Amino acid sequence: MGMPVDPQEFRTAMARFPGAVTIITARVPEERRGITATAVCSVSAEPPSLLVCVNRGTGTGAAIHETGRFNVNLLADPADELALRFAGARGVTGEEKFAAGDWGEDDRGLPVLRGALLSLSCDVTDTLEAGSHTVFVGCITQIHQGEGAPLMYERSRFHRLQPI
Ligand SMILES: Cc1cc2nc3c(=O)[nH]c(=O)nc-3n(C[C@H](O)[C@H](O)[C@H](O)COP(=O)(O)O)c2cc1C
Repeated sequence: MGMPVDPQEFRTAMARFPGAVTIITARVPEERRGITATAVCSVSAEPPSLLVCVNRGTGTGAAIHETGRFNVNLLADPADELALRFAGARGVTGEEKFAAGDWGEDDRGLPVLRGALLSLSCDVTDTLEAGSHTVFVGCITQIHQGEGAPLMYERSRFHRLQPI
């Protein structure tokens, strides 16, 4: 194996990948948890599944580990303020994050953002520890469809999706 590149070089390179912005949510008995995330990817149609990469230091990652469940809420443009809040802006964390946004819940009591483009309820089927992050593969058990255009993120800025 060759020498890995420097982490800062990695961050600068990966920042060129545009990402659709989501809020991944989970629920433990005492509280709701959620983080802004772009590391979300479709995996397979049979079974219908996706993967998310969640930092191990987050309460959301711990809640997913504990319960084996999570939701992915695809944000509509404009939801940049909400995305910053769920990224921990101004030190807001845990249940306090949910004081902004119109939140409901799915059949299992997990947070669903009303006004999201899509909310996908997932049950964890596989877990992989990879460096600082955990990769959770989730089987999709419920889909809530919304409307609008997706909020994008690239080179540390939010963007609108424009048709060519
Ligand atoms: C645009 C954007 C994308 C992010 N994507 C991810 C991601 O895919 N996975 C992840 O673990 N953290 C990601 N983060 C960082 C988390 O949102 C952040 O660490 C977390 O919300 C901190 O929450 P806490 O302060 O409650 O622990 C992203 C942040 C931003 C602004």
